[in-house]
Amino acid sequence: MTTNTVRKTLQQDEIPSVELDFMNATHFEEIKIVREIGELIDTYISENSDENQQALSKKLNAWLDHTILHFERENALMQETGFPAYEIHASEHVKALNLLRELINAWSDSQDIELVKNYIFSAWPTWFEQHVNTMDMMTAKFAVINGYQNP
Ligand SMILES: [Fe+2]
Ligand SMILES: [Fe+2]
Repeated sequence: MTTNTVRKTLQQDEIPSVELDFMNATHFEEIKIVREIGELIDTYISENSDENQQALSKKLNAWLDHTILHFERENALMQETGFPAYEIHASEHVKALNLLRELINAWSDSQDIELVKNYIFSAWPTWFEQHVNTMDMMTAKFAVINGYQNP
């Protein structure tokens, strides 16, 4: 069964640049990983072999590792600079990580590719654009205004 979700993949130039280069670099890496996941989803749909399933699982777990570091680095920046909306931004990170962990668990339990597809081509791109455009943008701006410089 297929669903009629709009297929959305982010390009690097589609998400806003924030004022700190290390954050932009992390966001670009993340978009690249998610695009690779998109390709592995297509491969799995065209041939649902064990090998293709494992390749997708492996990449999803690599994405989780990358996301953990991404969020830890931003949380540390907020703490270093005393960002006043730390709790709001950090709680979005917690929610996003929980969703990603749930997705990976659901995929490993059920191999339901529709779940992964919907997340990768719809829910995540929408969330990521919105998160970078609000929380990350404000965090970087606040850090720079308060004298933080690109490491
Ligand atoms: Fe970020
Ligand atoms: Fe963030």
